[in-house]
Amino acid sequence: AGTLGAAAAQSGRYFGTAIAASRLGDSTYSTIAGREFNMVTAENEMKPDATEPQRGQFNFSSGDQIYNWATQRGMKVRGHTLAWHSQQPGWMQSLSGSSLRQAMIDHINGVMAHYKGKLAYWDVVNEAFNEDGSRRNSNLQGTGNDWIEVAFRTARNADPSVKLCYNDYNIENWSYGKTQGVYRMIQDFKSRGVPIDCVGLQTHFTGGSSLPSNFQTTLSSFAALGVDVALTEVDVTNASTSQYAGLTQACLNVSRCVGITVWGVRDSDSWRSGESPLLFDGGGNKKAAYTSVLNALNSA
Ligand code: G3I
Repeated sequence: AGTLGAAAAQSGRYFGTAIAASRLGDSTYSTIAGREFNMVTAENEMKPDATEPQRGQFNFSSGDQIYNWATQRGMKVRGHTLAWHSQQPGWMQSLSGSSLRQAMIDHINGVMAHYKGKLAYWDVVNEAFNEDGSRRNSNLQGTGNDWIEVAFRTARNADPSVKLCYNDYNIENWSYGKTQGVYRMIQDFKSRGVPIDCVGLQTHFTGGSSLPSNFQTTLSSFAALGVDVALTEVDVTNASTSQYAGLTQACLNVSRCVGITVWGVRDSDSWRSGESPLLFDGGGNKKAAYTSVLNALNSA
């Protein structure tokens, strides 16, 4: 197949990108995005500061712009994200304790009601762990260690049709403390019936040419707990072709790895633009990494 989305679809997977609403008017950007991808994540537009700028007053204008753009082109949409220590609206940052807990529940209910039945996945909770595998200190963590499972239970009730994911970075290396901490949480949730369907590995790779140690083992180990896995925010320092090919192959080798999303279209669109980490250069030309990914998908 000649595009990333079509090539991934040959094995029942998707290939996605993060989309910024403010860039959709750039025809080079929207032409590439519309041609190559079949899954979309809003880069910032469905985060709490965007969707609930004032308590109880929801704003879905930018999120809907992305949703409509994607679905008019037959793409699916991943919601990102409902509960996170970062990009909270100001009013939420200043809350704590039971009022913050209630605000989190209300936020999940309000946003998920708007998108009910429309999304493929939701990143319910994002980046809740420290590098050593302990829980990250945040105002949400301060409401009690059960805040993550409360978020997932609330989400399941709000929209039983969407797959509910935990999403984090630096959980690709199987030997790493953070990976093990997240693994133990998923294992615990599955054993106690806390609703969770998927784990998103952000896959922001920095430097080197080989994959983090036992990357595929990480994917298959999470999958063995009974959840789907996905690579949700891929970007790679200098777009190393071997790392791009390797991460693609690792996903293809694990049946429950459902898809790959890159965190932007062109290098110039990236939050790491100085590292040229994506599959298209600033002029919209396919890079060598693009070909390495496409070839891996086509040889699956
Ligand atoms: O929109 C405002 C603009 O009006 C203002 O003039 C400008 C000045 O700073 O800021 C603009 O907002 C920025 C926003 O991106 C949109 O460009 C924010 O400052 C900036 O902080 C924000 O960065 C985003 C970052 O998350 C914030 O945490 C990145 O675009 C986005 O790619 C990044 O995505 C995260 C994932 O959600 C979670 N995993 C890590 C990943 C990379 O950091």
